[in-house]
Amino acid sequence: MRTVVYPGSFDPLTNGHLDVIERAARLFDRVIVAVAQNAEKAPLFTPEERCALVVGATRQLGNVEARAFDGLLVDYVRGCDAQAVIRGLRAVSDFEFEFQMALMNRKLDERVETIFMMPKDTYTFLSSRLVKEIARLGGDVRDFVPKNVGKALAKKFGAEPVRRPAKGN
Ligand code: PNS
Repeated sequence: MRTVVYPGSFDPLTNGHLDVIERAARLFDRVIVAVAQNAEKAPLFTPEERCALVVGATRQLGNVEARAFDGLLVDYVRGCDAQAVIRGLRAVSDFEFEFQMALMNRKLDERVETIFMMPKDTYTFLSSRLVKEIARLGGDVRDFVPKNVGKALAKKFGAEPVRRPAKGN
């Protein structure tokens, strides 16, 4: 059984995250999406809400689960009996931080391998932070997040998602 942990804040899940999850689900028997509690980041969604959004968006995959985690990632990975950690790399600008984190995790536990996966190029500009800002200001986020996440954002900000103008207008 090859298990991989995909950790992150997922506040909220975007189509870029989902693309990475789908790729990981094809390579591994089991993908655990590990939702960091990250209290210091003052997340918009609670860990339970973020997990539920991941579950709702990945139901069709069959080998993906979502769990909230706290504490050191390497401890969590060991507890899951996982072989590796997946992180998405959107652009070169992500690399420096991700490289530092991967090497630090290796230093903390040399058995924890980090695998970088690139989402589809059309998602390289996507981030949860931008999606939240657009949704908060009443913009249309339907191209950027799974349907259930779009609904949850609209509910959080007390608005219906903005209607997209017909093509050609
Ligand atoms: O989606 P994010 O915010 O980039 O995810 C960052 C995350 C949660 C993967 C990272 O902050 C993390 O691993 N946190 C757990 C605490 C930990 O192990 N810190 C040391 C990392 S070297």
